[in-house]
Amino acid sequence: MRILLLGSGGREHALAWKMLQSDKCTALFVAPGNAGTASIAINLSLDPNDFPAVKKAVIDNQINMVVVGPEDPLVKGIVDFFLEDDDIKHIPVIGPSKLGAQLEGSKDFAKEFLFKHNIPTAAYATFIKETVDEGKAFLESLTPPYVLKADGLAAGKGVVILNDLEEAKDELENMLVDAKFGDASSKVVIEEFLSGIELSCFVLTDGKNYKILPTAKDYKRIGEGDTGLNTGGMGAVSPVPFASDEFMKKVEERVVIPTIKGLQEDKLGFKGFVFIGLIKVGEDPFVIEYNARMGDPETEVVMPRIKSDIIDLFEGIANENLDTKDLVIDDRAATTIMLVSGGYPEAYEKGKVIRGLENVEDSIVFHAGTSLKDGEVITNGGRVLAVTSYGKNFEEGIKKSYQNIDKLDFDKIYYRKDIGFDL
Ligand code: AMP
Ligand code: GLY
Repeated sequence: MRILLLGSGGREHALAWKMLQSDKCTALFVAPGNAGTASIAINLSLDPNDFPAVKKAVIDNQINMVVVGPEDPLVKGIVDFFLEDDDIKHIPVIGPSKLGAQLEGSKDFAKEFLFKHNIPTAAYATFIKETVDEGKAFLESLTPPYVLKADGLAAGKGVVILNDLEEAKDELENMLVDAKFGDASSKVVIEEFLSGIELSCFVLTDGKNYKILPTAKDYKRIGEGDTGLNTGGMGAVSPVPFASDEFMKKVEERVVIPTIKGLQEDKLGFKGFVFIGLIKVGEDPFVIEYNARMGDPETEVVMPRIKSDIIDLFEGIANENLDTKDLVIDDRAATTIMLVSGGYPEAYEKGKVIRGLENVEDSIVFHAGTSLKDGEVITNGGRVLAVTSYGKNFEEGIKKSYQNIDKLDFDKIYYRKDIGFDL
């Protein structure tokens, strides 16, 4: 099978690495990819959001399957684009339809889905510019902290949590009236604050059957001790030590099964990865958010723990017989530490030469933001490399990753030295 993978981050390098372990994969193309994917597959220079260009690449390279990494092309409707085009509608695209991707693309849509299907989640109300005063009155009825969420995609910045009522009212006004996040904040979801510890649950679905992939915990803040600005993710561990079998049974019964049933009932056309952001409140799971794709850097610890052939699982999605496929998980823990450019998630420089990649032993370096220049690997993003290691437990994996990180260097390198500190 000839496969095209869309995206260019650490998630895509990890997916490419995993797909290449399958005998079913005879050629792998990544668009646009990075220096890491270039070392194992063929990079194609095209924008995944330019659907006619994707179609051309699919035809020119005789592609039999498309796997979508990031959310943007999904939310913009790449799956529907394929299904509506006679030339390419027979080529499976692993990912949800435009409507299904609304679970990530619209917080209000996701909350409505959660309530409709009785899935545990925080209480909420949604407001628009015309109802900003009702929104302020609603804030007055809540106890702090106040959780305000821009409805649409806002590059991970659309959630604001405030302790002060007046600040929360001002923020609501900024979002709705002054369009702080542009169109993304033309609607704002205000939520009850839930207090607990977060984890990510990943589910593969063909629309009716499902497989629960390994859990992971992501470290989102830039600073040690979970302080400072939010990032795309600074490290991850899998499995999550506090997600016991008993807890995961609750997750399956209360969250996963009703989610898959809901996708079917509402005809959302969801084939692909459901990323369920959970919070454990006491001993109970609540849904914080859905995403329509894998997480990054969670993929860099989840893929290494899947022993089964991922292409076989993807075929199960395409053919709607995922129930006939095996999912075998590695007992070992996997951990990843993200190396980022100094200044990230605010302003940072690119184009720094990365040294020491050849000295890494017994860890896997997934490239996140890199490119090739004159035969050298250079930095090309805020998040640069994800250093993944196996261990008999997460402590051992983390130790191995830090030992290898000591061999890597680029100008203004930064990483958190406390991944796993809270476990
Ligand atoms: P989201 O983009 O919806 O995942 O929100 C981003 C982050 O905000 C989450 O990872 C949580 O840390 C936090 N958060 C979101 N909703 C809530 C909530 N209802 N209660 C507490 N924290 C929340
Ligand atoms: N690591 C969180 C995400 O991918 O959204």
